[in-house]
Amino acid sequence: MHKDIAEILVSEEQIEDICQTLGARITKDYQNRRPILVGLLKGCVPFMSDLAKHIDLYVDMEYMAVSSYHGGIASSGDVKIKKDLDTSIQNRDVLIVEDIVDTANTIVTIKNLFAHRGASSVKIVTLLDKPAGRLHDFVPDYVGITIPKAFVVGYGLDYDEIYRNLPYVGILKPEVYRRDE
Ligand code: IMP
Repeated sequence: MHKDIAEILVSEEQIEDICQTLGARITKDYQNRRPILVGLLKGCVPFMSDLAKHIDLYVDMEYMAVSSYHGGIASSGDVKIKKDLDTSIQNRDVLIVEDIVDTANTIVTIKNLFAHRGASSVKIVTLLDKPAGRLHDFVPDYVGITIPKAFVVGYGLDYDEIYRNLPYVGILKPEVYRRDE
């Protein structure tokens, strides 16, 4: 698996530092509140679990599955809810946990949906921000690290459902996806 990676972009140590820093900021910003962390499956899983360990608050942890990618490397722009929340978010402070914000199609759609459902506040924390890919004027509230326009995998992010278990974030060798074209 590691041989398919051209370059490590965010190391395990950097990820740990990011989770500590963001966790401390979130703990401070949400003092005396009980936010709902909403992870967007499947990519959020490692980040949500590591980040949550550094949030010293009572939190709910919920998950939603949405898709805009269909196994390739370009966003389809069409966001579908594959698994909805199990709980109401009315009058709740929602913190959406994302692995990466690229075009922002997904996050803008879900943010609007949660506002429509009556959340008191909706903020976004993302491990990776890829602003060069944006199709919407959108800035996440909490960003782990800003990355250049490249297709990355690992630490939850996949190409064709593999590489999610890499402990770091890396740039996939272009020949890996070219051989599937
Ligand atoms: P957006 O809607 O274009 O912002 O993309 C959000 C989703 O697209 C993420 O949650 C990822 O699942 C996927 N995605 C975007 N960029 C990448 C990438 O570089 N590698 C793997 N998945 C990505």
